[in-house]
Amino acid sequence: MSLVLGIETSCDDTSVAVLEDGARLRSHLIAAQDMHELYGGVVPELAARAHVELLPRLVCHALEAAEAAPAELTGIAVTRAPGLVGSLVVGVAFAKAYAYALGIPIAGVNHVEAHLHSATLEHGESPWPALCLVVSGGHTELVQVAGFGRYRWLGSTRDDAAGEAYDKVAKRLGLGFPGGPAIDRLAVEGDPSAFSFPRPMLDQPGFDFSFSGLKTAVAQTIDRRGAPPYAAELVRDVAASFQAAMVETLVGRTMAALDRTRARALSLGGGVACNRGLRQALVVQCAARDLPLRIPSPRFCADNAAMIALVGSWMLAAKRAGGSDLEVVASLEESGLADNTLPA
Ligand code: KG4
Ligand code: ZN
Repeated sequence: MSLVLGIETSCDDTSVAVLEDGARLRSHLIAAQDMHELYGGVVPELAARAHVELLPRLVCHALEAAEAAPAELTGIAVTRAPGLVGSLVVGVAFAKAYAYALGIPIAGVNHVEAHLHSATLEHGESPWPALCLVVSGGHTELVQVAGFGRYRWLGSTRDDAAGEAYDKVAKRLGLGFPGGPAIDRLAVEGDPSAFSFPRPMLDQPGFDFSFSGLKTAVAQTIDRRGAPPYAAELVRDVAASFQAAMVETLVGRTMAALDRTRARALSLGGGVACNRGLRQALVVQCAARDLPLRIPSPRFCADNAAMIALVGSWMLAAKRAGGSDLEVVASLEESGLADNTLPA
């Protein structure tokens, strides 16, 4: 039996999971750090300090909830890249020390790779090749996946990530942080055709995204109405029109990539995959193509240690574990994950 402790501290959520045999989640805790709301965004220094406070306690709680003794653990999986350096360092330093004390191996997991596979926690193994869309506060990635470790990067955002655009538009509307859930809630009450915002890059070849133009178009529309607070009806209509543009762009690119790659399934990951408009649109499109759609529950879309434990379990089983030399890497590019291992 394998029993892997998963640790995620790449951004502002501290999360710990205990996963048995790469499939049975024995415990899973996520502590969101609410203080960032006060600053309208994640403050890296504060996030790192909060991880220091929360992580040791969460590990104790997670082991208790899993009814597992530390000595029963067979390995530790920890997010090593990409993310906020100060936050990553806390998780990796803790994981190294704990693994050393217990005499067990440690796997340094790539956070984006974990998002690529998070749907497996609930849906089981995917048919290959699959297409995966990771949409979060830090990433917008469209990836062809032929199995664990076999990826071809089709597209990324050239500027803002999808979640970042949600958060910035929400801030302009005075909706607080993080803004994605608030816009998603308001969008169903507003008129999606009230404003005609751009659908960026849909008319261009390739699979890259760009959201800064959309964000600016929304900002200009709001600016013309003066300073906040805005009328509730305006906020609802801007939210609905922005969400319509965002969903149409993400879905349009994804469907084109599905056709190109002849994928046998579509998986989603990342916080924006919680978005109801996006989920509904993809359900309709995938049903029309008779294609399996693998969307994780909201808990597994957002940052979570269960997906880290899952990928870490595979790495440990494949003896792709590191040791005390494990180092953190801030960017996806430098992490090496997006260097294609699948031929075109
Ligand atoms: O994956 P995640 O928890 O953290 C990162 O790795 O970034 O994603 C957080 C992002 C935030 O930008 C948040 O606004 C967005 O996901 N988000 C949503 C929704 N729920 C969370 N965006 C749109 N609609 C939602 N329902
Ligand atoms: Zn994430």
